[in-house]
Amino acid sequence: MKNQAVDRNHVLSLYRQLVTTGPAEFPVELEKIAVARVCRAYGLDPLEAEVPGRLDMLASRRPRFKKGRLNLPGAGPSEKTVASDVYWDLSLLYHLPTNFLKLRRPLFDLALQGLLPAHVRLLDVGTGTGTMALCVLDFYRRLAELSPGTGFRIDIYLLDQNPVLLKTARYLIENYRRSYLTGLEVGRLETIHKTVTPRTRFIRSIGFNLITVGHFINQAELPGLKAQRRILTQIANALSEDGSLVLIEAPDPAEATSLQIIKEHLTSATSLNVYAPCAYFQRRVLTGSTRNHSFDTFDWQPPLSIQWLHRQAGTPSPDRLGYTYLVFRRDGRVKYTGIPTGDYLPLSHFPSFVGQRVNLMGTVCSVADRSGSELVRLTLCDGSVCSHNYSVLVLSGQERSELNQGLLTARTGNLVQVQNVPLMKQKCPRYHLPLQHDTRVTVWP
Ligand SMILES: C[S@@+](CC[C@H](N)C(=O)[O-])C[C@H]1O[C@@H](n2cnc3c(N)ncnc32)[C@H](O)[C@@H]1O
Repeated sequence: MKNQAVDRNHVLSLYRQLVTTGPAEFPVELEKIAVARVCRAYGLDPLEAEVPGRLDMLASRRPRFKKGRLNLPGAGPSEKTVASDVYWDLSLLYHLPTNFLKLRRPLFDLALQGLLPAHVRLLDVGTGTGTMALCVLDFYRRLAELSPGTGFRIDIYLLDQNPVLLKTARYLIENYRRSYLTGLEVGRLETIHKTVTPRTRFIRSIGFNLITVGHFINQAELPGLKAQRRILTQIANALSEDGSLVLIEAPDPAEATSLQIIKEHLTSATSLNVYAPCAYFQRRVLTGSTRNHSFDTFDWQPPLSIQWLHRQAGTPSPDRLGYTYLVFRRDGRVKYTGIPTGDYLPLSHFPSFVGQRVNLMGTVCSVADRSGSELVRLTLCDGSVCSHNYSVLVLSGQERSELNQGLLTARTGNLVQVQNVPLMKQKCPRYHLPLQHDTRVTVWP
């Protein structure tokens, strides 16, 4: 039977539910399961109290738990903490929710263009506590609720060198699966206990159509960039012809840089192409900030466990999360091939059209000024050129009209179509496109 794609209308409903209605939220049910898991490890009855109460109990019974502070933003790193046996328990409460939410955007990128199959065969490399697999599971269960009878099925293969973490991931997945009733079938749930090296061969016979590699490239103790590149090549070999490989890293200059190097390698040494966020992935070109190299940041509502941890550390919990991601495919598709075609000028042809009005489309790489301010500026990439040759769309307060105000809603990763805008060359190599009141803008998720 053909592996049908997820229905776009259902994906759009989910997008409206999860992305456009306020800060991102980690599922409450899953948080309770994670906290219960930690409590159990310390011999506490997980049903004794609500989340903060349970954590208070843990901290009073196990002082090391309280002392074993995680590397919370603002609290400073602690090598001892990483080595301690409570590190992963705390990580379960901290990194699970923060990393989990970063995968949603790439999943939407794929689902909106009909590239998430109803039957997903997932390989998660460097599983840790199961963050990435849980996000995929959660995404599919929400789709299954919106689209009953579609016959969703997920087969999950978790790979990590740490057997304790694999056990934890399995526990969370099994329990989260039990906490809801939908038309989602969890077929296989396999754990692969293995230390990945440049010589590791990944199983090809399964034909994984989704591979997630979250916070692994930089966190894994891999001997240098050469090893990282070889490992990623091997991982890519396990991807099916119509599959997608998703890499996620933290919003850190060094991590974004190694992701960029991996990207150069994968696109030149394998048959993979970058599907999203834009065909040419670049760091914050518009602001040129050296501090923040994340591709995107989003508002989130920190779960109770994170609020608790920050109270312990005496630091405020962050209200925005940053991350960097790349989605690869091998079918040459890029994210914006799914939107209606028209008479659009690729960025690569810009030099011959300076001074004229043009139509263009592409993916939003960065938003420099938000809708509250007088001026909205964002950069756009259409994949036709690389490096610094990018376009900057500018909308001033005076030129706002019904036709162009859609730009105010554009977020990083959205697709934007712009019709009838003057093309000016500003400073080499930047193209400046000041929107006029009669410029038409359409924004797609
Ligand atoms: C930072 S955690 C990431 C967890 C999860 N993927 C996420 O995004 O939240 C990195 C994981 O990679 C695993 N790991 C590190 N080096 C590894 C290797 N060479 N082979 C297999 N797993 C490895 C660690 O045990 C750890 O669970």
